[in-house]
Amino acid sequence: MTSEWWRTATIYQIYPRSFADANGDGMGDLAGITAHLADLQELGIDAIWLSPFYTSPQRDAGYDVADYCDVDPLFGTLADFDAMLAEAHARGIRVIVDLVPNHSSDEHEWFQAALAAAPGSAERARYLFRDGRGPAGDEPPNNWESVFGGPAWTRIAEADGTPGQWYLHLFDSSQPDFDWTNEEVREEFRRILRFWLDRGVDGFRVDVAHGMIKADGLPDYTPPAEGGSMGGAGGVAGDAGDAAGVALEPEISDEGDGAPYWGQDGVHEIYRDWRTLLDEYAGERILAAEAWVDPLPRVAKWVRPDEMHQAFNFAYLETPWNAAALRTVVDASLEAFGAVGAPSTWVLSNHDVVRHATRLALTEANPQGHGLGARSKGLPEYAAGVRRARAATAFMLALPGSSYLYQGEELGLPEVIDLPDEARQDPTWFRTDRERYGRDGCRVPLPWNADAANYGFGETGTPWLPQPELWGTLARDAQRGDPDSTLELYRAALRLRREHALGAGRLEWTELDGVDDPSVLAFRNGDVLVVANTGSDAVALPAGELLLASGPLDAGALPGDTTAWIAA
Ligand code: NOJ
Repeated sequence: MTSEWWRTATIYQIYPRSFADANGDGMGDLAGITAHLADLQELGIDAIWLSPFYTSPQRDAGYDVADYCDVDPLFGTLADFDAMLAEAHARGIRVIVDLVPNHSSDEHEWFQAALAAAPGSAERARYLFRDGRGPAGDEPPNNWESVFGGPAWTRIAEADGTPGQWYLHLFDSSQPDFDWTNEEVREEFRRILRFWLDRGVDGFRVDVAHGMIKADGLPDYTPPAEGGSMGGAGGVAGDAGDAAGVALEPEISDEGDGAPYWGQDGVHEIYRDWRTLLDEYAGERILAAEAWVDPLPRVAKWVRPDEMHQAFNFAYLETPWNAAALRTVVDASLEAFGAVGAPSTWVLSNHDVVRHATRLALTEANPQGHGLGARSKGLPEYAAGVRRARAATAFMLALPGSSYLYQGEELGLPEVIDLPDEARQDPTWFRTDRERYGRDGCRVPLPWNADAANYGFGETGTPWLPQPELWGTLARDAQRGDPDSTLELYRAALRLRREHALGAGRLEWTELDGVDDPSVLAFRNGDVLVVANTGSDAVALPAGELLLASGPLDAGALPGDTTAWIAA
């Protein structure tokens, strides 16, 4: 395996609950992942990142961890994990696991001990307990709001039953935030890192990597209107907008929004400490930050040479399918990450956002985390949405750096809009009194076989979220071998990306002779010319061997919402 593999890797996100269910209980599991690693090898990815499979009451789909060093019985056992890891490595696939250091579950033994202990005790000091405001202490200690809606504080009853202190939870009330100024917390996470590194994992995706340190004194803060993302900017950002109110320009400004719980400078010494620890291990283990901060130069602080290896590029994810906006965000990304010697990453979908086969063609703004459902407006037809998504993916996979894919996007899965209310499980749905739909629509279990029960997700059991009929036509086996399918487009793009070493290349924007259309974007990366048409009129393509097209050409011309790769 090449050195600094993470600089160019294509990393495929597995959401274990929804990937494949081997034991037939309706919930995906580790054995299901092992059984399908051959499919991922065939797809042509370099690594997988697994969302949490640890012991958890599953109030936030496993991002509420009760035991960081064990597997939840829903997903299997540590032996199942070891078997999965060994099989992945045998197939040349690296494995990154999720680390959730900002908060634990309220069922974590430390939090249970904190509840049983007295105010001011060492047990309470591992979390952020405070007295309430007001004469009776019945007002929260400050005005912070939870990312999932509602107050970020919950009051407990003390051991004698009287109303007591409050604890901070930036997310659900079942996810108490740790106090990262406490050395005991730091030491515990070093132990957790070593536990998984010793087992052989290739790295960690660090959840809420911008949230662990809070400003001294926990001052009041009111976020700008239209928040709702995992922190930092919310939704599609920027000033310019089209007629439907969807912004066209990514937000590339110089200032963060100043929240006293996001992006505090103190987080960086934690990552320097972890980097030193990882570097003790052979085999280039990596750290990848989930840091929803603006703007990109601020994100780049997470990947300075002695900190993490990668940070997710959410500015790219939030960029609409628009040539000018894409060019701006690609330039800003390469410049910001390049300035600290890090690769840029690229991503279009994950388990927290509306799938890009739907999102990129929405005509109404949809802030991140709000999700889609029966009341939503501006929804695209499936064919139009997936056409644009294929073009966007073909554009992304030609960019230099490392790309993240989210399970199911290689099948062209759209967001599932019509989930019944009673099926929804995202805490956002409940904490906003069902006003925001939340993220269930991108988490529906995958279709593997068109004709099997539950589309091959699991032979028995009821999938934890219902699968739509469309899954029959989009199942992996129905697409395999069909050159027009989204699956074969992804396979071809990943093969060509590797053959032409695009991940390690250099991007150079170029103009096309005779094309004067602001919707068209063209760049060279090594010996490949990439042309993306974000508009609606077909444009002439330059001569050359067509390596890849995200959709059919129109008598040799490139139609709207289509990307082509040409040997240059
Ligand atoms: C970010 C994760 O991606 C999301 O799914 C989770 O709800 C929050 N962090 C809280 O852990």
